[in-house]
Amino acid sequence: MAKRLVIGNWKMNPETFEAAKAVARKTRAISAKLCNTDVVVCPPFPFIAACVSRSQPPAFHIGAQTVSLEEGGAHTGEVSAKTLQSLNVEFVIAGHSEARAAGDTDETVSRKIGRIVEAGMIAVVCVGEKTRDENGSHLDFLKKQIRKTFAGISPDKTKRVILAYEPIWAIGAKEAMAPEQVYEMSLFVKKVFADIFGHEAGHKVRVLYGGSVNFRNAGDIIKVGRVDGLLVGRESVNMPGFKELIRAVDAIG
Ligand code: 13P
Repeated sequence: MAKRLVIGNWKMNPETFEAAKAVARKTRAISAKLCNTDVVVCPPFPFIAACVSRSQPPAFHIGAQTVSLEEGGAHTGEVSAKTLQSLNVEFVIAGHSEARAAGDTDETVSRKIGRIVEAGMIAVVCVGEKTRDENGSHLDFLKKQIRKTFAGISPDKTKRVILAYEPIWAIGAKEAMAPEQVYEMSLFVKKVFADIFGHEAGHKVRVLYGGSVNFRNAGDIIKVGRVDGLLVGRESVNMPGFKELIRAVDAIG
């Protein structure tokens, strides 16, 4: 069975360089003991280089939280996919709801996925509804969002795509989505992906869940929700919570 993936999206945390190095060091140490799990940390840009170590365990990987949609050149404040790749970044988050709220659109996310994949990295593409209702309008929303986000992407690129289903209402919340619902939604997301790219791509694409995952609920979300991994916010910079979370996932076997 493929290894499970636990991705820590640090967002703007921690605030200082020293604290970031400490979180990376602790996460690396846990990763050295894993059998069934790969771990990715996505620090703020200025901390990335310091989170890479020469003696990195094979289960520990570096990610980034976003990337420029431009290839390079005169774009003040932007960071290109090639720059990230040169820092040993292997995974890049695209289309996080917080980045979408700050201006990313389905179209710009699509272009970012292209840049990430062309630079040889893996795009962790976030999708998710703002609200849910009895009529299932969230399913229509999600279907449209996935279709538009992948509109410009050729099927050969899907090998380097991971889907992260993050219902916006569950991000930064008290409770995660119920694991049974996570299972239903991960199947739905895979089905929409298969309708676009074909049965095989839909079967192969990895689906993660994100939104208020912590060390208590992580095991059930994986076991009952049957997702391929987790995209973790707050708990990923909280030690020893993240350590316990990773252990719980790895223990599932
Ligand atoms: P929390 O785990 O803090 O709810 O954040 C989830 C998230 O947005 C990960 O990308």
